[in-house]
Formats: sequence, structure tokens, C-alpha cells
Amino acid sequence: MKGIILAGGHATRLRPLTKITSKQLLPVYNKPMIYYPVATLTQAGIKDILIIIAPEYAGQFLNLLGTGRDFGTKFTYEIQEKPRGLPDAFIIGEHFIGNDDVTMILGDNIFDYDFSEEIKNFTHGGLIFAKKVPDPARYAVVEFDNQHNVLSIVEKPKNPRSDYAVPGIYIFDNRASSFARKVKPSARGELEIPDVYNQYLALGELKVNIIESNWHDAGTFDSLLQANNYWAKKSMRS
Ligand code: G1P
Repeated sequence: MKGIILAGGHATRLRPLTKITSKQLLPVYNKPMIYYPVATLTQAGIKDILIIIAPEYAGQFLNLLGTGRDFGTKFTYEIQEKPRGLPDAFIIGEHFIGNDDVTMILGDNIFDYDFSEEIKNFTHGGLIFAKKVPDPARYAVVEFDNQHNVLSIVEKPKNPRSDYAVPGIYIFDNRASSFARKVKPSARGELEIPDVYNQYLALGELKVNIIESNWHDAGTFDSLLQANNYWAKKSMRS
């Protein structure tokens, strides 16, 4: 299993915090944000991680993270010239993934959950997650039937058909890159991640696990503040 952390983009929603640095380098309590997705992958035993970064901040990421030795893993870096959407990570990472499976996590997604079991037991197809949230329209939203079979997954729907968001961690076999190449840009000009996992769904090869644990997408002022408060409190308790 290989790992990819997507930490590109310009995070215009967080200006001026992101005027001179990358969102994924901002603090979340006592660590830079990207330490959290790094920990999510390394605690699941992933020893080979590709970090995809914007050209402007490449030097900062290298200074901070280095080879990966200090984290017990190996880091490779790729530049994403422009934020083209999440599936671009599988296109940029195609050679890195090679014949392996891959777990892709977004650099601003912070989980208080150990994915070790899911990652170790993964065999083929796609595995994504669902988490009940108060504001589903911000995310990809998954709709289930009574038996928890997936009926639909829609990116940022105006009228969400459930309260279940799909968090930014995706476990795929190596067809992810060829599926990503088939995706066409959406109305907002980006490749959308549901267009990748809906291809697994169409083949009957997508699993969705519901998680109850804490999760933040720290991409807005409010969610960044909530993530800071959550990890500060947690660290004081332990
Ligand atoms: C992205 C994805 C969305 C996912 C979310 C999780 O949205 O497009 O499907 O639910 O991450 O954080 P973004 O945060 O880039 O708007």
C-alpha cells in the first residue's frame, strides 16, 4: 500500500492566512496541519508516501518534512502546477502508485481515527468512508438505502439527500489512475473525486464504511478553529 497526501492549491478561502504560506503548513494546536495526515498514514503502516504540493511552497514543505526518516517513512514530492481537483493526485501519482494499492488523503483532513485495519485488510476495488455531519452540502454526500447499500454520491449537492459526508481519505486499487484519466472537468472547472469512486460503484466494487470518530476538514476559518480547539483539548486530557 502506497500513500498520497494532496497538499496543493492556493486556499483562497483562508486568505490572508494563506497569502505567504500553504494551508497545510498552518498550525493545528501544536503541529503544522500536514503532520496529522502524515500520522494517519504512518500509523497505518504506510512506508512510502507521495506528497503533492504547489510550486510556491515546495521549499517550505521540504524544509519541514525532509526525507521522511524522522517520521519512520519515505517521502517523495511532486509539484502540482495548478489545482485541477482531487483526481489529479492519481494522475500525478500514476508512476509512484505503479502496481500497488493506494490510500490518498487530503492535506487538510484531520482524523481522530486509526485506519490500520481498513488499510491492512484492503484487497481490491475502492473503500471510502461516510461520516454524519451537520453541514453536508460542503462535501460529497452519500445516500444509502435501509441495508446501507449506496444509492448515490454527489459532490456538494444543493439539496443533500442525507447527512453523510464523504471525508477526504480514499483507498483504491491501482485502477484509480486510469479511472481518474477518464474524468472530465465539472462546471467549476475541476476534476471531482466522486467521478473516480462512482466508477468503482458502477462495477459493484465500492465499499463505504461509516465512521463515528472526530473528523475535520480544516479548510475554512471556522473548521480550522474547531480543529485547533479539538486537538488542544485532547492533548490536555492525555
Ligand atoms: C473535497 C472533496 C469532497 C470531500 C471533501 C472532504 O472538497 O471534493 O468530495 O467531501 O474534500 O474534505 P473540498 O474540501 O476540496 O471543497
